[in-house]
Amino acid sequence: MEKLNIGIILGSTRQGRLSPQVGKWVKEICQQHKDANYEILDIADYNLPFFGTGTEKEEGIIAWKKKLSSMDGFIFIVQEYNHSLTGALKNALDSAYEEWNDKAAGIVSYGSTGGARAAEHLRGILGELSIATVRAHPTLSIFTDFTEFKVFKPADIHINYVTTMLSQILLWSKALKAVRKS
Ligand SMILES: Cc1cc2nc3c(=O)[nH]c(=O)nc-3n(C[C@H](O)[C@H](O)[C@H](O)COP(=O)(O)O)c2cc1C
Repeated sequence: MEKLNIGIILGSTRQGRLSPQVGKWVKEICQQHKDANYEILDIADYNLPFFGTGTEKEEGIIAWKKKLSSMDGFIFIVQEYNHSLTGALKNALDSAYEEWNDKAAGIVSYGSTGGARAAEHLRGILGELSIATVRAHPTLSIFTDFTEFKVFKPADIHINYVTTMLSQILLWSKALKAVRKS
């Protein structure tokens, strides 16, 4: 059977962002589970215009949609900005539709309260895009899982949470792949 493709989406784009460190760590844990291919999807690489200001023929939008189409499931690396997700991530979500539908996703979040408020906002948005979010949700503390708010040093316990989340994503991604084919 074909391997599943899981995209690990970095939700922040600011200079000095911490999301690449978190995404790399998540990818390394995932790669121990060989049922799928894992790829970091960096929103910043796509130069997406602010939704509605460009045309649908914009190179970045076409490339973003094409990449999403090739994915069976997602892991969102989510950081809390003003008690919600970043504008960049919301824009990236708004910039596609069918490409998201009937796929599974998990959320890894960080912030002062583990990014919980941002993650819960995101869950509602993903529901509207027909993305099924799994229950397991690793929450990383900006105070204890990062040194001086800069260097990612996660507590070991989080590895178990990522592994559990991944097993749920793979199960649902496989099921939803069959749904999309039917
Ligand atoms: C504009 C802005 C707003 C923020 N608001 C919150 C917040 O409401 N709650 C929180 O826990 N952290 C907040 N933070 C702290 C971020 O969670 C922290 O800086 C984190 O590293 C941001 O992710 P990034 O480094 O990937 O951009 C905020 C940071 C920024 C830049």
